[in-house]
Amino acid sequence: MHVLLTAGPTYEPLDPVRFLGNRSTGKMGYALAEAFAAQGAEVTLVSGPSQLPDPASPRVRTVRVETAAEMFAAAAAVAPGADVWVFAAAVADYRPAQVAVEKIKKSGDTMTLELVKNVDIAATLGQSKRPEQFAVGFALETTNELAHAQGKLHRKKFDLIVLNSLRDAGAGFGHDTNKVTVLDAAGQIVNFELQSKADVARGLVRLILARLPISTP
Ligand code: CTP
Repeated sequence: MHVLLTAGPTYEPLDPVRFLGNRSTGKMGYALAEAFAAQGAEVTLVSGPSQLPDPASPRVRTVRVETAAEMFAAAAAVAPGADVWVFAAAVADYRPAQVAVEKIKKSGDTMTLELVKNVDIAATLGQSKRPEQFAVGFALETTNELAHAQGKLHRKKFDLIVLNSLRDAGAGFGHDTNKVTVLDAAGQIVNFELQSKADVARGLVRLILARLPISTP
């Protein structure tokens, strides 16, 4: 079994020394890569900039990228041959319209940046998803969490969506623990306890494998 995983943030350059990014560390995605590999799966981990070392398992191939466009290209190359797609990356929705060749110099008291939309990796790959392929997305919402997550699940053709909690201390960006809720297309909901990201990853992998047509790698 082959798993495609996206993880970490993306960095969108503004000039040679600056970028737009976000606070994702990649911990959840890297923990998922290790957990899938521990179950015997071959994993391609397409990772945005992360301080984490490449997962040690020989079953994990790590592809390092920087921008959303690079992450899309690397994921699209692997997606057709993968049985499971997991989109754990916090992809920048927009990038600077222009990337300056030289460092931008300070001038006026205010500065306006024009941003253009990035490719939606999950939604675009979802268009070519075959019925036997299984896609898992992540969502982080602050209002109407379940309704928004359900909307994303249908729009991006996910089989499952993992909703990250922002309300619980110890969950989310940078923490070693996480608290998630998993939803499927039929509206079934599974609540996970607050636990280490490694344990959340093992639980998610169990849940995903149990839902595949062939449940062992
Ligand atoms: N995603 C992606 N490519 C993007 C944006 C998001 O692959 N350009 C994936 C994420 O990895 C995640 C899912 O889509 O699995 C949902 O991401 P999220 O940022 O919550 O979704 P958005 O569509 O960007 O919605 P929002 O307007 O809430 O930011």
